[in-house]
Amino acid sequence: MSEQKQPSENKLWGGRFTGATDPLMDLYNASLPYDKVMYDADLTGTKVYTEGLTKLGLITPDELTAIHSGLEQIREEWKQGKFVEKPGDEDIHTANERRLGEIIGRHIAGKVHTGRSRNDQVATDMRIYVREALLDLSIKLKGFIESILKRAESEIDVLMPGYTHLQRAQPIRWSHWLSSYATYFTEDYKRLQQIIGRVNQSPLGSGALAGHPYGIDRDFLAAGLGFDGVIGNSLTAVSDRDFVVESLFWGTLFMNHISRFSEDLILYSSAEFGFVKLADAYSTGSSLMPQKKNPDSLELLRGKSGRVFGGLAGFLMSIKSIPSTYNKDMQEDKEPLFDALTTVEHSILIATGVISTLSINAKNMENALTMDMLATDLADYLVRKGVPFRETHHISGECVRKAEEEGLSGIDKLTFEQYKEIDSRFEQDVMDSFDFEVSVERRDAIGGTAKSAVLKQLKNLQSVLN
Ligand code: ARG
Repeated sequence: MSEQKQPSENKLWGGRFTGATDPLMDLYNASLPYDKVMYDADLTGTKVYTEGLTKLGLITPDELTAIHSGLEQIREEWKQGKFVEKPGDEDIHTANERRLGEIIGRHIAGKVHTGRSRNDQVATDMRIYVREALLDLSIKLKGFIESILKRAESEIDVLMPGYTHLQRAQPIRWSHWLSSYATYFTEDYKRLQQIIGRVNQSPLGSGALAGHPYGIDRDFLAAGLGFDGVIGNSLTAVSDRDFVVESLFWGTLFMNHISRFSEDLILYSSAEFGFVKLADAYSTGSSLMPQKKNPDSLELLRGKSGRVFGGLAGFLMSIKSIPSTYNKDMQEDKEPLFDALTTVEHSILIATGVISTLSINAKNMENALTMDMLATDLADYLVRKGVPFRETHHISGECVRKAEEEGLSGIDKLTFEQYKEIDSRFEQDVMDSFDFEVSVERRDAIGGTAKSAVLKQLKNLQSVLN
């Protein structure tokens, strides 16, 4: 048996423990490898917290000055990649405090944690970190949506088939398709602002669970850290990870939208459709087939939705039955969330690149429009002559069947006489119904395909972003 080592004296909880921990347990327990990305939030949190302690007279102004300069030195060390991690640095909070002691002496550094616990500390750091990350995503998302809107505006005249069940259904504008995804993404944008508001609430000053024993001014701490308010119950403050769940859900839903957007574009870029062509910058070749140009960017955008959802499902499972309040299970919030934030960030940037550089083939889009897609317009024609829609739907169906029977390429090839035979209420002007542009322009109600309606959509979306 190996001899028992004394617990490392720089362990935060060292006092009460006599046995050494299993080295594997140390590794298993440590979160520093992935929570060090929060170093900045952690240092800022301590900076403001010690100001709060100074207001209470628990730290002298001179000590505060020393603490702040120590914290800034540590920030520089992290920034320049010079921070030296040591065994016993369990997490970012432990590491920063240990280092502060080395720089300014343990006597002063030992005061910064007065009334604070890593429980309110980690919740604070996470909320700051996530807030900043979501704000950054919000800016990038805005850029992505604007690149879609820009494209939609400049290609407003291009028509293409709209699909249901992946079957050609009715003619639409290419810009209408673009605007449809811009609408999804703008809802994502709005949802993100709401989530940021809920993330941005301060847990600091809640202690381990029961609150602060020296009456710290939590509003002061919150204001100093840019929070919108304080969480009103100390037990909840330290144990609430709903902001992590919501952020993961947000990412999951966004990636779902990205995935559907990508799937459409993958189809549209195939030879069978030939509607769009990806820029070389976002395609790759095949190692075997020289002619291939694959839409890997879009496939990755589609595929990566899986890991974000996985993170959400996994983390919800991790926390579903934990008792109040802080439990170590909660440390499992970081890896899925940080991974999701990075995945979403990269996905937004790639999607922006894809949509702003692809080229469209307007001819192929228009050639894919077929006359049967105007069968509804034919039904609508008779509605305008006073025939009930249920009847006109049936009559239009007969026209489609008749054209098929006659081996004609479309309903526009039936003669006026043949129309008259099918229904006497057809008049000469029926022959004007077979125009895709007219069909698209007729749908001018809010949200429709008419140029004016699409332009209005684009304008409304832009105004949400402004
Ligand atoms: N590394 C921990 C986490 O990420 C910090 C909180 C530790 N708190 C505790 N009571 N052990 O959740």
